[in-house]
Amino acid sequence: NPADALSAIEAASDQKTLDEARVAFLGKKGRLTAASAAMKDLPNEEKPAYGQALNVARSAVTTAIDGKLAQLQEQADQKSVEGIDLTLPPRELLEGGLHPLTLIKDRAIQILRRMGFALADGPEIETEYHCFDALNTPDDHPARNEKDTFYFDSGKLLRTHTSSVQIRTMEKATPPVRIIAPGSAYRRDEIDATHLSVFNQLEGLFVAEDVKLGDLKGTLEYFLRALFGDKTEVRFRPHFFPFTEPSFEIDVKLHVKGQAPKWIEVAGCGMVDPAVFTSLTASRGDDLFDPERVTGFAFGMGLDRLAMIQWGIKDIRQLIDNDTRFLKQFS
Ligand code: PHE
Repeated sequence: NPADALSAIEAASDQKTLDEARVAFLGKKGRLTAASAAMKDLPNEEKPAYGQALNVARSAVTTAIDGKLAQLQEQADQKSVEGIDLTLPPRELLEGGLHPLTLIKDRAIQILRRMGFALADGPEIETEYHCFDALNTPDDHPARNEKDTFYFDSGKLLRTHTSSVQIRTMEKATPPVRIIAPGSAYRRDEIDATHLSVFNQLEGLFVAEDVKLGDLKGTLEYFLRALFGDKTEVRFRPHFFPFTEPSFEIDVKLHVKGQAPKWIEVAGCGMVDPAVFTSLTASRGDDLFDPERVTGFAFGMGLDRLAMIQWGIKDIRQLIDNDTRFLKQFS
C-alpha cells in the first residue's frame, strides 16, 4: 500500500525532503525494494498478483515524485521573479557602429592600398622644421603665425597639416616611395559649419624616377571616382603651396536634389617642389632624393570634407557632437 509514501511526498516542502522520501521508498534499502525482495518467499500462486500490486505502487510513487518536483521548481521560479514586472517591454539593445569618419577613412585607405600606397604616420606634436622649414615654407608665411597655429612653450607645435609625414617618411626611405598618411591636423580657425580646429587629413606621396603631372591627375581622378562613383566630375584648379610646383586644389562636383550643382574643394596637391628634395638631400647626406634623380607628387585630402560629401552632411560639427541620433544613421 503506497499511501504512506504518497502522503510523505505530498508533505515535502523542499527538494531535500522530497529526495529523502524518494530514497526511503525507492532507494536500495527503501521499502518498495524490501517488498520486492519479500516476493520470493510467497507461494507461487500469489506471486503474480503481488508483483502487479508492486508495479502499480512503484509507478504511483514515481509519478507523485515527478509531479511534486515540478511543483517545487515552479514555486522556486516564482519566488525568483517576485518584484519584477514581467509585462514591461524589454530595454532597447543599443548596438555600436563605426563613426562616419572611420568609415570614409577606411574606404579611402582600402582604395589607395589597392593602388600600391603603403600606410605611414608621424607625430601630431611636430617640430617647426618638419611642419614648415623642410616643406620650403618661408619664415614669414602666414601659416606659421601664432594666430593660426598652436605652439607649445618648447617651440614645438600641433601639426597644421599631415604634410610633415612626407618629410618624416623621406628622411628614412629609399625611393620609390609611395605612402599615404591619414591623421589629425590642427589650426586656430574660428569654428563654424565648415571649420573645426581639429580636423582630419589624408596625405599622399609618390616619389620615383620620372613621376609626372599626368600620374597625379590620373591617380586622384581614379581615387575620387572609386569613392564617389564612376561619373564623378573632378576639377583641378591652379593654386599655390610652398612645397609643390605646380600646385592645384581639387574640386568635386556635388549634386544635391533641388539645388544647382556645386564644386566642393576636397584636396590640395601638386608636384613635389625640387626645393624640398634639395633640402632633404642636404639633411640625408646622400643623393637618393637628388632632384636630378627623382620627381614626385603629393596630395592632402580633407577627410571630414569627403565624409560631408559622401553623406550630404551640412555642418562639420555633427562629426564631433556625438549625437546618437546622427551616429545611428551610419550603423
Ligand atoms: N598640406 C596642404 C594643406 O593642408 C595640402 C597639400 C598636401 C597640398 C600635399 C599639396 C601637397 O592645405
